[in-house]
Amino acid sequence: MQLLLFGHQSSLLSLWLMHWPILMKMLAALLLLVPLSNAIEINVKGSERQCEYQPTLQPRPHSVSILEFGAIGDGKTLNTLAFQNAIFYLKSFADKGGAQLYVPAGKWLTGSFNLTSHLTLFLARGAVILGSQEASHWEIVEPLPSYGRGLELPGGRHRSLINGYLLHDVVVTGDNGTIDGQGSVWWEWFTSHSLNYSRPHLVEFTGSKDIVVSNLTFLNAPAFNIHPVYCSNVQVQNISVYAPPGSPYTVGLVPDSSDNVCIENCSISTGYDAIALKSGWDEYGIEYGRPSTSVHIKQVYLQSFSGSALAFGSEMSGGISNVLVEHLYIYNSNCGVEFKTTKGRGGYIKEIVISDVEMKNVETAFSATGQSGFHPDDNFDPNALPIVDLITLRNVIGSNISLAGSFTGIEESPFTSICLSNISLAVTSSATYWECSNVLGFSQLVFPEPCPDLNSSVSNSSFTCFSFLNSNAEVATL
Ligand SMILES: *[C@@H]1O[C@H](CO)[C@@H](O)[C@H](O)[C@H]1NC(C)=O
Ligand SMILES: *[C@@H]1O[C@H](CO)[C@@H](O)[C@H](O)[C@H]1NC(C)=O
Ligand SMILES: *[C@@H]1O[C@H](CO)[C@@H](O)[C@H](O)[C@H]1NC(C)=O
Ligand SMILES: *[C@@H]1O[C@H](CO)[C@@H](O)[C@H](O)[C@H]1NC(C)=O
Ligand SMILES: *[C@@H]1O[C@H](CO)[C@@H](O)[C@H](O)[C@H]1NC(C)=O
Ligand SMILES: *[C@@H]1O[C@H](CO)[C@@H](O)[C@H](O)[C@H]1NC(C)=O
Ligand SMILES: *[C@@H]1O[C@H](CO)[C@@H](O)[C@H](O)[C@H]1NC(C)=O
Ligand SMILES: *[C@@H]1O[C@H](CO)[C@@H](O)[C@H](O)[C@H]1NC(C)=O
Ligand SMILES: *[C@@H]1O[C@H](CO)[C@@H](O)[C@H](O)[C@H]1NC(C)=O
Ligand SMILES: *[C@@H]1O[C@H](CO)[C@@H](O)[C@H](O)[C@H]1NC(C)=O
Repeated sequence: MQLLLFGHQSSLLSLWLMHWPILMKMLAALLLLVPLSNAIEINVKGSERQCEYQPTLQPRPHSVSILEFGAIGDGKTLNTLAFQNAIFYLKSFADKGGAQLYVPAGKWLTGSFNLTSHLTLFLARGAVILGSQEASHWEIVEPLPSYGRGLELPGGRHRSLINGYLLHDVVVTGDNGTIDGQGSVWWEWFTSHSLNYSRPHLVEFTGSKDIVVSNLTFLNAPAFNIHPVYCSNVQVQNISVYAPPGSPYTVGLVPDSSDNVCIENCSISTGYDAIALKSGWDEYGIEYGRPSTSVHIKQVYLQSFSGSALAFGSEMSGGISNVLVEHLYIYNSNCGVEFKTTKGRGGYIKEIVISDVEMKNVETAFSATGQSGFHPDDNFDPNALPIVDLITLRNVIGSNISLAGSFTGIEESPFTSICLSNISLAVTSSATYWECSNVLGFSQLVFPEPCPDLNSSVSNSSFTCFSFLNSNAEVATL
């Protein structure tokens, strides 16, 4: 049974006038059905599901090899200048259909460099871009405005290895070439508190549009692997990401204050979160006010050694909404799916659907916490309460799970409309299956039986489960 929410009053009106008799029947059916059932689905028509839209990757009319700029692929010679010069040269092709920079097999050591618009960076099979292990080869840049400071240390941060700043139409791809950050030195500096600035990432796009990252392997990032921030139309497809256990806070993909993002057919195994959606930090994120929205994640294999396979937050002050995740495989992980926030964040995490999930050997299958992370400084507003609402988790099967779920909301702003549906978890511990506080939800066909807070069907017959309409279905049939 489905209840429709129309986006605009006018469409409701015209529909009403056109289909009066049908609507009367629908209404009658609704009135009949409501008292008989516990769950009402709220269906919201999602924006075009981002992974259904496949950009056509036209070959670029011009191509140069990094060899033409004097690069040496011996793994020892520093090639930063070769990359910078090649990109500078290729800038002149932007208005001639763009160009490709070809990186042949070899080990290409480099410090940070920038990309340019209408560019394809192509890494041949056997091509490995190696990040320099000298901190000075990763220059210092200003903090992001939505964070106000570096994530790890106050002040600036090291520039990422490969950067796109205010670009349009960029493809980073290959025939399974590799980008290896050689991050072990950064992990050591982080652990021994010898960093002077926050760690860099492997690939970062800032304020850019129409970005594709595909067919590559990412290894040993100093911190994040791929960080699109303030971006639109980002496709990440068919990549592998690996950072070893114990690599501190290494994260795979981090869509951050970005919209229309597709992550598809990726395999990610990292020290901390495999995929983390973010949108800025406390007062800085609230003021910047750019959400992460219209995100589609499908067919991903995730492992997180010490964090969560799929995380929302904890930096979410610009809001996170309209996220569809389907066909998710999570294995050997600390936590499966986690929603993280805290008082002072403001913002919201809402309108999230996660469906068709398989979990194996996971400590905590689901977690939602309102007590996560620290503040950028003392100027945060403790009354800026985050909202966690309209979250649906459905069609989940799990084996060797220690804790089914931990949902600890915020007293002044409880987590609401959490819907659990068709979930079956083989939980190994015999003590507690679910922990709940300050949370209100609905569940159907959930095993083991959730805490009463997540089973309001007992007391309330009008609880709502959020879901998206299929992109083509304007009207659901009753
Ligand atoms: C890279 O781009 C940044 C702007 O984001 C600029 O400040 C910097 O000078 C550029 N570096 C090079 C080598 O072009
Ligand atoms: C995925 O990438 C590999 C190379 O890494 C390539 O051989 C394969 O064809 C790609 N598959 C798809 C579906 O793009
Ligand atoms: C891609 O490269 C990685 C690392 O070099 C390798 O482990 C993996 O098997 C390769 N995948 C394909 C599809 O060739
Ligand atoms: C931090 O700064 C100190 C003093 O300038 C320097 O010796 C050290 O190499 C720097 N550490 C890193 C990781 O850049
Ligand atoms: C990935 O590689 C495969 C095989 O070469 C190719 O068919 C596909 O178009 C590539 N996909 C992307 C998104 O680059
Ligand atoms: C991507 O999909 C292809 C089949 O289309 C599969 O062979 C490959 O293993 C997948 N790659 C990843 C990284 O999931
Ligand atoms: C069960 O999962 C835990 C991780 O949560 C793992 O350490 C353990 O080896 C797994 N047990 C089996 C039998 O696979
Ligand atoms: C319940 O979820 C399983 C996968 O975990 C799926 O195979 C099954 O079709 C689902 N049942 C319903 C009624 O949706
Ligand atoms: C909800 O609670 C009722 C009453 O305790 C119980 O019969 C029902 O099985 C519970 N629902 C789920 C999904 O566990
Ligand atoms: C039932 O839940 C709805 C939505 O959460 C709420 O507005 C309503 O007050 C609740 N009714 C009762 C009787 O608890």
